[in-house]
Amino acid sequence: MHIITIAMQKGGVGKSTLARSLAVAAARDGLAVLILDMDAQQSASQWGERREADMPVVVFSTENDLPKRLEQARGAAGLVIIDTPPARSTEAPAAVEVADLVLIPTTPDVESLEQMPRTLRLCRGFGRPVWAVINMANPTGPAEVAQTREVIRAMGAQAAPVVLHRRKAHRDASASGLSVQEMDGASKAADEVTDLWAWIRAEMQIRH
Ligand SMILES: Nc1ncnc2c1ncn2[C@@H]1O[C@H](COP(=O)(O)OP(=O)(O)O)[C@@H](O)[C@H]1O
Ligand SMILES: [Mg+2]
Repeated sequence: MHIITIAMQKGGVGKSTLARSLAVAAARDGLAVLILDMDAQQSASQWGERREADMPVVVFSTENDLPKRLEQARGAAGLVIIDTPPARSTEAPAAVEVADLVLIPTTPDVESLEQMPRTLRLCRGFGRPVWAVINMANPTGPAEVAQTREVIRAMGAQAAPVVLHRRKAHRDASASGLSVQEMDGASKAADEVTDLWAWIRAEMQIRH
């Protein structure tokens, strides 16, 4: 069982959206996927309730419940994706500690990038492999992505090669309890998510 934790101190950078999109991509790839929603705001859980499909399974978990939830998932789930709350929390360290891979979504804005070092330190403290994922990039401004990569590199970290651009389909999908791939499989937003998942899958050496 593989565990991906999605963490970033800054709110609104796309943690929950990324958790859901990757979970659907992995499920479509044949994996049994569990989203553990550790955010008290429960946006992933509420999305799960809006859905009709039975995959991914979405379960809320407190920090205290986490070991038990992971034990229950073992054998049943091929992939667990943990969504964490923003701000300083006790949930994020617990979720990072159990992760095989940590993803830190960030928008290209300075307000987000300024918050990254704290989350990076957390991952390094637990010795966890970590990648930044640039999200909500301007679709018509490639220079912005290049600059953002440079800022992330200067922090001693790396951004995933696949970038998610700002696309309305992400919001529309969320409202319908869907992911972008389910909302419009031919959209650029869907292609980006599929490419990101393929890269993560290879990076984590998850076999078919
Ligand atoms: N790539 C994207 N393009 C456009 N909107 C996005 C994108 N990613 C996320 N969003 C939107 O941004 C808002 C915040 O995303 P969310 O996943 O809830 O962030 P977080 O969990 O980090 O607080 C949501 O309305 C979501 O639909
Ligand atoms: Mg969230």
